[in-house]
Amino acid sequence: MHCTTLGRTGMKVSVAGLGCGGFSRLGLGTGGGEAGAIAIVRQAIELGVNLFDTAAAYGTEEVLGKAIKSVPRDSVVICTKAPFSWSSGRADPVGIVASLDGSLRQLDTDYIDVYQLHGVPPANYAHALEHLAPVLLRERDKGKFRFLGITETAPHDLQHETLHRAARDGVWDVSMVGFSMMHQNARERVFLLTRKHGVGTLLMFAVRNIFSQPGRLTATMRGLAAAGEISAALAESDDPLGFLVHEGGASSVIDAAYRYVRHEPGVDTVLFGTGSLAHLETNIASLLKPPLPEADHRRLGELFGRLVGVGLDAPHLSSVRAKN
Ligand SMILES: NC(=O)c1ccc[n+]([C@@H]2O[C@H](COP(=O)([O-])OP(=O)(O)OC[C@H]3O[C@@H](n4cnc5c(N)ncnc54)[C@H](OP(=O)(O)O)[C@@H]3O)[C@@H](O)[C@H]2O)c1
Repeated sequence: MHCTTLGRTGMKVSVAGLGCGGFSRLGLGTGGGEAGAIAIVRQAIELGVNLFDTAAAYGTEEVLGKAIKSVPRDSVVICTKAPFSWSSGRADPVGIVASLDGSLRQLDTDYIDVYQLHGVPPANYAHALEHLAPVLLRERDKGKFRFLGITETAPHDLQHETLHRAARDGVWDVSMVGFSMMHQNARERVFLLTRKHGVGTLLMFAVRNIFSQPGRLTATMRGLAAAGEISAALAESDDPLGFLVHEGGASSVIDAAYRYVRHEPGVDTVLFGTGSLAHLETNIASLLKPPLPEADHRRLGELFGRLVGVGLDAPHLSSVRAKN
């Protein structure tokens, strides 16, 4: 595993982080059971992953807590989140402390490494900063968690307004940000500032349905071409990103998607969610490979650098409970 420093937290973290939410929720969201979810976490640890991201809303805190019992607590970095209601509503401070205490109980741990406000919309950012952060920082000082973080609500904050402001406010040590081959604007809107201010970054949305669901990419390309946002030639191809897959380049589009975000300056840990041991292994392998060839990287910028908000969609299956 390759490791890096999570911004000013100083924590040494793996560049691959296991997301316990998303569409898969360690497999609990796609029909798997607790034993399978524990196996995914333990195999991730075996492969060198030390950062795990969960949330009160995901329903995976308890299983994550059980899975990490096999290793010393200080060998893993546990990130979890306050429920959405506390991030977006006019929440009362008593409730948010109760939720933090609930997460500690679910995880069965004495402390959380990064406690994050979950999916804070730009309209609620001032409330989060002025009313929720001070309450949480007092709980941090009691030892309940080590660092305060904030996550954006990517599909509803396409210009990263929340994180653009949060990076400069000095309160949030870690930001969770959406960035991918199809949604590249965090490069200017977020990473310039997080690097300047030493804010650690957790990356989400590298691979959503657009790359993981067959047919989704070609359908998206057709829609974008019809709207005049990309060239018609891309829409006519059955394999619009096939140019990335070649000897010396990526082994698949998903391999390219993870490598693209992994090597972006300003990205610390790349999160991916999965309920599949096979995907766990191939994703980690991708994240440990070198950057994409310079010519391919440049072409992705030329073709898609102006797009905003593409590939941030919700799950296609009604049976899949997305907890983002
Ligand atoms: N606002 C927020 O705070 C927020 C929002 C979104 C996500 N997150 C966090 O970020 C984590 C990652 O989220 P994400 O949006 O990047 O991804 P995600 O929602 O977990 O989605 C990844 C999808 O791609 C599939 N997949 C993974 N590897 C694959 C592979 N090699 N081949 C084919 N399919 C593959 C997964 O299904 P399989 O089970 O089949 O692998 C899953 O459906 C989440 O788990 C969560 O912890 C936070």
